[in-house]
Amino acid sequence: MPLSLKEFFERNPDIKVIVYAGKGGLGKTTCSAATAYWFAKNGKRPLCFSTDPQASLSDIFERDLFGKGVQELIPNLFVVEIDADKRIAEFQEEVRRKIKEMYGLDKIPEEIDEYIRTSAYEPAMHESATYDAMADLVASGQYDPYIFDMPPFGHGVRMISMAQILDAWIEKIEETRRKAAEYAAAAATLRGITAETEDAVLKDLREIREKLDFFRRILTNPKTCAFFMVLIPEKMAILDTKRALDMFEKLGIKLSGVIVNQVYPPQLLDRPDLSQFLRRRIEMQQRYMKVIKEELGEYVRAVVPMFDREPKGLEMIAKVAEHLFEKPGLEVIE
Ligand SMILES: Nc1ncnc2c1ncn2[C@@H]1O[C@H](COP(=O)(O)OP(=O)(O)OP(=O)(O)O)[C@@H](O)[C@H]1O
Ligand SMILES: [Mg+2]
Repeated sequence: MPLSLKEFFERNPDIKVIVYAGKGGLGKTTCSAATAYWFAKNGKRPLCFSTDPQASLSDIFERDLFGKGVQELIPNLFVVEIDADKRIAEFQEEVRRKIKEMYGLDKIPEEIDEYIRTSAYEPAMHESATYDAMADLVASGQYDPYIFDMPPFGHGVRMISMAQILDAWIEKIEETRRKAAEYAAAAATLRGITAETEDAVLKDLREIREKLDFFRRILTNPKTCAFFMVLIPEKMAILDTKRALDMFEKLGIKLSGVIVNQVYPPQLLDRPDLSQFLRRRIEMQQRYMKVIKEELGEYVRAVVPMFDREPKGLEMIAKVAEHLFEKPGLEVIE
């Protein structure tokens, strides 16, 4: 019998970061909110985090949270919805300030400013800002666990590769800096840059690197970070989950589990008044539940039923949490 979600956390008490990933619209935000709720009710201090511009946490918790900083919704349940665009703008301002400081300028040359402005439109910039915001929150160490609700476009897997890419990138800059330093003294005086400003840049880079390193170590250690895929009993979602499993394997990471969501209660099939339409849908789902059991069975940590309405508000979130943590998982498939 695979471990249930509750058993998984009992056996992995050092998990600091929890990530729900998966295709759009299957239940990442729903599971993230319910997980945060469950931990808050069970003596922890969870923070649920999102950068989804759709403000999906505001939607599910029925509170305006977007860009408002960390909010405590009920005792010990913390939620923050980061405005990534605002964060990028702040970051650009910081770059401008540094350039002006370093080169003693009053105004950024137009060409450079255009470069800084257009960088905001690169998707990687959005991801970096998200990643950086997460790293900051985790480095603060104020919450436990951190639950990251991935945006629809963001594949959780990318987060891990992001850590590796950023790391390689900073390494490159540092190396270039070191090499340059060997003969830069003369050139620097020519350009009017002192060794002190060079040192300051290196120090900045080192600090960024330490923060990212710390975060990366947490993310890539299965004892401290849990990755779950949310899927529904349908073909595309199963395929996508299997693809993610492969990608994880290539990165040398083990998936912590899968959550099967939006499952129509199969007991409904016993009701003679059940419509043909619903009967067919339930039968289809049950066929895919068998496939999930065969191909992903060892990963299934919970099965969450399809509710008769959207699970929103604390009362419904509590219900989802109950199914995620307090009900048997795979047995439902039998
Ligand atoms: N078990 C369920 N029963 C009924 N409705 C559900 C269930 N789980 C999720 N939903 C609804 O399905 C929609 C998508 O769920 P959710 O927002 O959690 O998915 P998501 O993976 O976060 O989506 P996105 O990729 O857009 O961020 C929401 O309207 C949600 O209320
Ligand atoms: Mg979502």
